[in-house]
Amino acid sequence: MAILVTGGAGYIGSHTCVELLNNGYELIIIDNFSNSNPESLRRIKEITNKDFYFYEIDLLDRIALEEVFATNNIEAVIHFAGLKAVGESVSIPLHYYHNNITGTINLCDVMKKYGVKNLVFSSSATVYGMPDSSPISEDFPLSATNPYGRTKLMIEDILQDLFVSDNNWSIVLLRYFNPIGAHESGMIGENPNGIPNNLMPYISQVAVGKLDELKVFGSDYPTVDGTGVRDYIHVLDLASGHLKALEKVIFSKGVEAYNLGTGTGYSVLEIVAAFERESGIKISYRMVDRRPGDVAICYSDPSKAKIKLGWTAQRGIKEMCRDAWNWQKKNPNGYSNKTEVDLSN
Ligand code: NAD
Ligand code: UD1
Repeated sequence: MAILVTGGAGYIGSHTCVELLNNGYELIIIDNFSNSNPESLRRIKEITNKDFYFYEIDLLDRIALEEVFATNNIEAVIHFAGLKAVGESVSIPLHYYHNNITGTINLCDVMKKYGVKNLVFSSSATVYGMPDSSPISEDFPLSATNPYGRTKLMIEDILQDLFVSDNNWSIVLLRYFNPIGAHESGMIGENPNGIPNNLMPYISQVAVGKLDELKVFGSDYPTVDGTGVRDYIHVLDLASGHLKALEKVIFSKGVEAYNLGTGTGYSVLEIVAAFERESGIKISYRMVDRRPGDVAICYSDPSKAKIKLGWTAQRGIKEMCRDAWNWQKKNPNGYSNKTEVDLSN
């Protein structure tokens, strides 16, 4: 029996695939490389010295997707594939709705047809909208402030409806807070297209000299130093959370949401200082206006995942910054220095 990972070539997917392979799971990965590079798959093999099946498939291509289920014995699916850039989702909403929602409906429909009813879905803390307070627990009110967030909320609703229609489904919705960091080998990591939107890749690119200075969005928030506070989580802790979620969907029924965060918030300037300590490089920054749509403080209550999944984040901000920097300095251009990759199995 194999685990199907959609979007396995991407940032979180590639780290989770390493964890799965290292824990003896048989893997099938599908990806259309719309936001990733085949090189990440080659590196997963190099890190783990293990093999997997790979299909270059778009989730919107239902026929190709069915072929994967028809020719493999799949026990559960971890579904990462989706578009994730908030600003882009505002510019091209239909593309986001089509890719994320139709892609997920295709996947679930094919899973249903082949009797595969165990699913782990990549949701996001974005489903809490503009929360009134932190720490945020799973029963906080849900809302969305942009099309990307709405796709996550809609998919959560679709998956709840699916369970109501057939109680044999077993679904875990993982609401990630702010994933950063990289595999400690420095071989896989976050590889944003163009100028990064998120804080850690932006800082890393300033450190490596690709960008001049960080613009700190807002210095008048009611926080420790006036800058925004977030719950950063090491991508390897996120990956181990997926293994726990996988055990949950395989061994029980139901639909449940879990926060994956550390439960600790850090300000932008605290992250800058921690990154400087780990890299030994001074990060130039400038205070600018708040970014529209940003909340002052957002961090998780991760106790449900601890109690029900037996999962807690193990790594702190030091490891997150150390590993982000290690990845960035070893791969200043991400995966773009392509080597010839043989993905045949
Ligand atoms: P990513 O872009 O690195 O990975 C997503 C992968 O899915 C990419 O490899 C992309 O090529 C693939 N993909 C997209 N649409 C596809 C389609 N139609 N068919 C096949 N493959 C497709 O993103 P990530 O950071 O690894 O995020 C993974 C998931 O986690 C996403 O669903 C994202 O919304 C969610 N998430 C990410 C964050 C974050 O900060 N990175 C936070 C919360 C939630
Ligand atoms: C963003 C997304 C959110 C998504 C999350 C993880 C927005 C409005 N929200 O959240 O939907 O789930 O990423 O992918 O885009 N910052 C700077 N300068 C920068 C970049 C960021 O000061 O150049 C600050 C932000 O104001 C924030 C913190 O750093 O206080 C973290 O920002 P970011 O990494 O973009 O994550 P979120 O805003 O939490």
